[in-house]
Amino acid sequence: MHIREFTMEDYDKVVALWRAAGLTVGFSEAREGIRQKLERDPQLFLVAEEGDEIVGAVMGTYDGRRGYFYRLGVLPSRQGRGIGSALVEEVERRLAAMGCKKINVLVVEDNERAKALYRKLGYSLAPVDVMIKEL
Ligand SMILES: CC(C)(COP(=O)(O)OP(=O)(O)OC[C@H]1O[C@@H](n2cnc3c(N)ncnc32)[C@H](O)[C@@H]1OP(=O)(O)O)[C@@H](O)C(=O)NCCC(=O)NCCS
Repeated sequence: MHIREFTMEDYDKVVALWRAAGLTVGFSEAREGIRQKLERDPQLFLVAEEGDEIVGAVMGTYDGRRGYFYRLGVLPSRQGRGIGSALVEEVERRLAAMGCKKINVLVVEDNERAKALYRKLGYSLAPVDVMIKEL
């Protein structure tokens, strides 16, 4: 398994992977949204590859203050083999190199598997409610 940066040529494969992993693909993940993200911090959107197959992906971001993870997903047939953890740890290394000191992750309340992964990597639940607004 090899981790590398996402390019737009990977777009269709990564969207298929997210869907296979049960993740929603909304307007923020449309091609234009992804292009905008890549203009800002392309080094934080990573894919895990086995041969020519993309088996995992994660979109990290950095706003200059906090790092964030979005859309961490691993192909169902490849889950439980450390791919998700390896992707998170590589983004962490890259965020640290950019000067980031703290990471926030939004996990759907009942996603125990994702919470277990993040707990194992040292994350804890924060006593906050997330409020959102679409512009
Ligand atoms: C969450 C997800 C990315 C984990 O990827 P993965 O490659 O399977 O994770 P890893 O193999 O690195 O496992 C790391 C830890 O996660 C937890 N974990 C993984 N699979 C699990 C399972 N089936 N049940 C419970 N915990 C699990 C364990 O703590 C595991 O550590 P361990 O293997 O030492 O017990 C993957 O299951 C996935 O794509 N799920 C669907 C999409 C999703 O929910 N994404 C997260 C959005 S926040």
